[in-house]
Amino acid sequence: FKLWFNKELKSFNQLEKKFPSALIVGVRKGGTRALLDAIALHPKVKIVRRETHFFDANYSLGYDWYRNQMPEVESDDEVVIEKTPAYFTNENVPKRVYEMDPNMKLILIVRHPVYRTVSDFTQVYYNKLEQNKSLPVLSVEAFRTDEAGMETINMEYKPMTNSLYDLHISKWLKYFKIENFLFVNGDVFRANPLHEVSFPLIGLHSIDLFQLRRVEEFLGLERSITPSQLVFDYNKGFFCFRKTTRIRCLGQSKGRKHRSVSEDVVLKLSKMFEDHNQNFFRLINRTYSWD
Ligand code: A3P
Repeated sequence: FKLWFNKELKSFNQLEKKFPSALIVGVRKGGTRALLDAIALHPKVKIVRRETHFFDANYSLGYDWYRNQMPEVESDDEVVIEKTPAYFTNENVPKRVYEMDPNMKLILIVRHPVYRTVSDFTQVYYNKLEQNKSLPVLSVEAFRTDEAGMETINMEYKPMTNSLYDLHISKWLKYFKIENFLFVNGDVFRANPLHEVSFPLIGLHSIDLFQLRRVEEFLGLERSITPSQLVFDYNKGFFCFRKTTRIRCLGQSKGRKHRSVSEDVVLKLSKMFEDHNQNFFRLINRTYSWD
């Protein structure tokens, strides 16, 4: 009776909740919110607006809790997507995702690691400012001197270690094949999510030019998002998104001015990320222009 009743109820209101088939797992400050809002322009995509943190902080709440966080879908061909950027760097997450769905589609939007670090640091800085806590200085937090007197990465400082993409992806690749992943170039995406208008971009591979098209394809969706749904806001300096008539821009904490960092610190960061970047490129079989 219960089964029959549930079926009847479903056909009556045509709505149900289902687990996501794709996750935007990171990277923090890579453009995860903008990517989620952009892909939500597709009529077959349903998103979870808030970060559920299910596979990291809320795992003990169980699968039923997780399903309850999902939006209602009307038909089976709708794709449900959740994003929690903390997933990428949390070592418990890959196994948990795999156990729930070994076919999960995983989207990683990456960004030049130096700018990502400065962006992450800027966010931490403003969080501390709001909480009236003492304010960090990047050059003090980011580096440590080892026993031989060499300056190295402070492995305890998250804004730094979050940028060591190779360390994190290798934990995921213990469970998932590379085919489960789509890598989105956050620097290209941010400048032009669809890239329908062509203008020369030096040093970028043509495959990287159509970030949203690649996401549609990866999710098994027909091409639907049009350039007219992406509206550049000259005040904000970023693209905003038009689903119906209303245009939605991201909040003030997205795309804010970075804390200024000296050239010396930028050079040091670049040097320290170099080997990690090369290792990351090897692991994912593609390269980015992160010189
Ligand atoms: P900055 O604030 O450092 O510029 P996340 O959502 O993962 O936290 O990423 C935030 C970053 O998204 C911002 O970092 C910004 O550069 C980038 N971004 C990409 N497209 C954007 C858009 N359309 N509007 C605002 N920020 C965007």
